[in-house]
Amino acid sequence: MTKFTNRLASKVPSTRVPRVAIAILAAGKGTRLKSQLPKVLHEVGGKPLLAHVIAAATRVVPASDVFAIIGHEAQRVRAALGHSGVNFILQSEQRGTGHALMVAREALSGYDHVIVLSGDAPQVTPQTIARLLNFHLDQNAAMTLLGAELSDPTGYGRIIRRSARGAKVKAIVEEKSASAAQKKIREINAGFYVFDVTQLFSHIEKLSPDNPHAEYYLTDMAGILRQAKQRVVVWKTEDSREILGANTHAELAIIDHQMRARKCYELMTQGVSIFYPGTCVIDSDVEIGADTVIEPYVQILGKSRIGCGCRIRSYSVIRDSEIADDILIRNGCILEAARVAPGAVIGPYSHHRPGSDIGQGAHVGNFVETKKTKLGQGSKANHLTYLGDAEIGEGVNVGAGTITCNYDGVHKHTTVIDDGAFIGSDTTLVAPVRVGRGAYVGAASCITEDVPEDSLAIGRAQQIVKKDWVRERRAARGQEKPKEPERTRAIRLED
Ligand code: UD1
Ligand code: CA
Repeated sequence: MTKFTNRLASKVPSTRVPRVAIAILAAGKGTRLKSQLPKVLHEVGGKPLLAHVIAAATRVVPASDVFAIIGHEAQRVRAALGHSGVNFILQSEQRGTGHALMVAREALSGYDHVIVLSGDAPQVTPQTIARLLNFHLDQNAAMTLLGAELSDPTGYGRIIRRSARGAKVKAIVEEKSASAAQKKIREINAGFYVFDVTQLFSHIEKLSPDNPHAEYYLTDMAGILRQAKQRVVVWKTEDSREILGANTHAELAIIDHQMRARKCYELMTQGVSIFYPGTCVIDSDVEIGADTVIEPYVQILGKSRIGCGCRIRSYSVIRDSEIADDILIRNGCILEAARVAPGAVIGPYSHHRPGSDIGQGAHVGNFVETKKTKLGQGSKANHLTYLGDAEIGEGVNVGAGTITCNYDGVHKHTTVIDDGAFIGSDTTLVAPVRVGRGAYVGAASCITEDVPEDSLAIGRAQQIVKKDWVRERRAARGQEKPKEPERTRAIRLED
């Protein structure tokens, strides 16, 4: 931001740095999505459309200078994005993009320029916003719009230039009002603008809803300002992907795909190997260190951070988790809000729910579920186990089929297993309970009481052997002894 502000200062002849706000148009319903969810909360790259636009905006100006204009389901939008620190302005009736700015008039009165972004165009970059602003300041314009050349311009507003050369704009014509000749124009209005605030609000009253949608179109400001002899210019971007708006589910899917492809590309340039990147789903905010290998069909979501030198095998899904360095996550694991320390080996098919904390060099094997559980350094739980609300020390061996009984139907209770303990297979640990340091639990035990340090606990029915019981029953029923199974031909040949 500092770099940008310096640039701003150098562009303006006056000694004062202009005060710049960003308004994000985000009040619309998104009729074309046919959804209960407001349009700007639909997700691409793993987070809401509006969250992407806010992220770009707040890299250009501080959050306190960003104003999101919300309306449809405003409470939901505010609840989802309030944490961003931007201001929200309510446009209770959505009467068009121009009307949205009328509603923001008072909030914007203290600024010199306002950059207008669209809450449904999430690929806009801070660099493009800054360039548009700098062009606007250089040109001393009342209105600057971002243009782009599209091979299929259908649905977008077309830019009518004053002449083939030069940046001056005569008007913007919306698709529905465009003549056949105008529809052939491939230079479209991206829906991002910069306005001189004084000029905008001196003329905004001239907007009229006299159009097929009966809305106040912000785009009409181009013609209005031009008629008022104000300077209206266009700056054209080379990267037309940046301006794509998500109006339909098909467009959401296209943008999502583009974002994820770009994310994979970025990660690969940072030293991450991704096999078949087109099959991997990696959210925008994910961080991955160099020399980590991501196999096909992996999903890494939310705010996950993965260190260096890891290998994530196919079909694993990792959400909001912290994976340190040199970790192997085998096929088909699910991790959610989990932490894994360096050198651990996980899976295949293990499930780590929120609060799982897998220690350094620990091993977790197939069909193991953990929740709110710390598994200490070097400890192992390799097969078919549930560990919930457990504190497990270092060097503990949790046998196959061990279950923590953490829930009594009303409350959750903690199981503590101290360092070096050995839990035999098929043990149930009825919490609250503690197994002391170095203690042993015999296989198939149901442990309901604490086991002291270095002791052996066996909590199962004692084995009874009834010698010859089967033989006697067979004799009583007059049955013959079953024949020995026939030996296979292969073995006979070897005889
Ligand atoms: C708009 C432009 C069009 C441009 C296109 C680029 C207008 C009239 N048209 O069309 O020239 O090519 O964007 O994507 O501006 N919104 C409000 N309040 C309202 C109405 C809309 O906040 O009363 C918000 C919407 O939530 C959306 C944004 O403004 O985020 C743009 O509105 P939308 O209806 O999507 O405009 P387009 O038809 O795409
Ligand atoms: Ca749109």
